[in-house]
Amino acid sequence: MTNIVVLISGSGTNLQALIDAHQKGDLPVNIAAVISNRPQAYGLERARLAGIETAVIDHTRFETREDFDQALQARIDACNPQLVVLAGFMRILTEGFTRHYLGRMLNIHPSLLPKYQGLHTHQRALDAGDEIHGVSVHFVTPQLDDGPNVIQAVVPILPDDDAATLAERVQAQEHIIYPMAVAWFAEGRLRMDNGACLLDNTPLPASGFVVDTRVN
Ligand code: GAR
Repeated sequence: MTNIVVLISGSGTNLQALIDAHQKGDLPVNIAAVISNRPQAYGLERARLAGIETAVIDHTRFETREDFDQALQARIDACNPQLVVLAGFMRILTEGFTRHYLGRMLNIHPSLLPKYQGLHTHQRALDAGDEIHGVSVHFVTPQLDDGPNVIQAVVPILPDDDAATLAERVQAQEHIIYPMAVAWFAEGRLRMDNGACLLDNTPLPASGFVVDTRVN
């Protein structure tokens, strides 16, 4: 069974989607631990309710980013995970940390990467007058929100949308595509090779596998 560790900072709805998929038998992993950098993150409660080990590594207690990342790495590695899953983990990671988990750390980001790296992605898509928006799951590399895409879900932007309605439409897709991507990895179907994503030994396009909700 593939051992995974999930890192969170907040509400943990993506964590919940992983827990639900696992409980339904759709995700062949062992969630060894859920680690939060924020003691109050509600996702910790979700983990406890599911009987998953939790840990808090509070970033405010560390002098430097490097010190925090080293403590986090030690805690993660104590679980021997094959995959680290960033699920709303709102920290910029040091290069050493990302290199340590290269090819075995996934992130979910609420935009169609490479568009809108960083924060406030829904408002930025609205401000730009975009007609589509979405979410990406990608392997983590040293550059922020920049690793190769595994899967994207595309949603329409509707005339009356504000950032909240758009976020809700995107998040519904997050909860579908993240368990899919983690399952692919756990089943040995997905890997990163030479900076590209391979699914079933076939290179994926730059967008990754695309789920377009406008046509599905
Ligand atoms: C999700 O929408 C995720 O895409 C986003 O944070 C939210 C966490 O929600 N991640 C990022 O912005 C990463 N740059 P959750 O705690 O309910 O899963």
